[in-house]
Amino acid sequence: MIQKLDDTCTLHNGVRMPGFGFGTWQSAAGDITVSAVKAAVKAGYRNIDTAAAYHNEKSVGEGVRQAVEEYGIKREELFISTKLWNDHRGYDLAMKAFEFSMKELGIEYLDLYMIHWPAVSKWHEDWREINRSTWKAFEELYRDGRVKAIGVSNFLSHHVQALMEDADVVPMVNQIEYHPGFGQVESAGFCQANGIIVQAWSPLGTGDVLKNHVLEKIAAKHGKTTAHICLRWLIQKDIVPLPKSVHEERIISNTQVFDFELSASDMAEIDAVPYCGGMRFDPDAARS
Ligand code: A2P
Repeated sequence: MIQKLDDTCTLHNGVRMPGFGFGTWQSAAGDITVSAVKAAVKAGYRNIDTAAAYHNEKSVGEGVRQAVEEYGIKREELFISTKLWNDHRGYDLAMKAFEFSMKELGIEYLDLYMIHWPAVSKWHEDWREINRSTWKAFEELYRDGRVKAIGVSNFLSHHVQALMEDADVVPMVNQIEYHPGFGQVESAGFCQANGIIVQAWSPLGTGDVLKNHVLEKIAAKHGKTTAHICLRWLIQKDIVPLPKSVHEERIISNTQVFDFELSASDMAEIDAVPYCGGMRFDPDAARS
């Protein structure tokens, strides 16, 4: 379990990834995202996550560039992730999409590239072949040193299992929706048992879960906010939270989760919170 903001966890290929990250989904392209990324780096975040589908890679890259220049941080101290969107699955398109993302980000190498959503049987008869062929491109980018690690996102355990059977390189990360009221226990457990680090997107349930009464009660007991409770709950599960905010005070506040501990009964109570916000996407059903 990480003890401070820049503590790292080790991926199965030996690469060290900061165990607490900054999310940029729903962070609008332009100055808002540039400033948010800079504020995050200034606050001590070292793991920055984006995706082609967020349409803000250029702004994330600009925020990183300015932060490196202004705060004396080295590029190598940052861990930058992006994701391949669904309409670029398959070897050839994935290769092209990677180059486009790199151009947008304006960086020489990427730390982590993820398949954003699995191709699934509901929409693709040849779903397994599609994922396998996309992954071939990822493996090549990894072997060529263009990316330090490769992973998946929104993969349920049976998607991960199929990919592991078809792959040469086991994914290093699976980024899934995970927050109180929507803990994807089965997927996370499968990944952790197979040495795949789990990251949580929407760890605050897109902000909706923050008014939940159980979280409020536990927050009051610890003198913390409900956002802190969500993030700490994930840290204690060895899941890497990626909270998003475009407000500097929240960006800073969300890091203040290393000065208290949730008890086993707090953890169990949060585990039992029913759905109370967030997307609750089912990757097997979501149109992709
Ligand atoms: P904003 O960007 O306006 O600060 P998630 O990471 O689960 O998707 O949640 C992101 C949402 O939660 C965003 O709407 C963000 O709003 C809001 N948010 C982030 N941090 C906090 C916080 N500490 N308190 C309240 N809302 C927050």
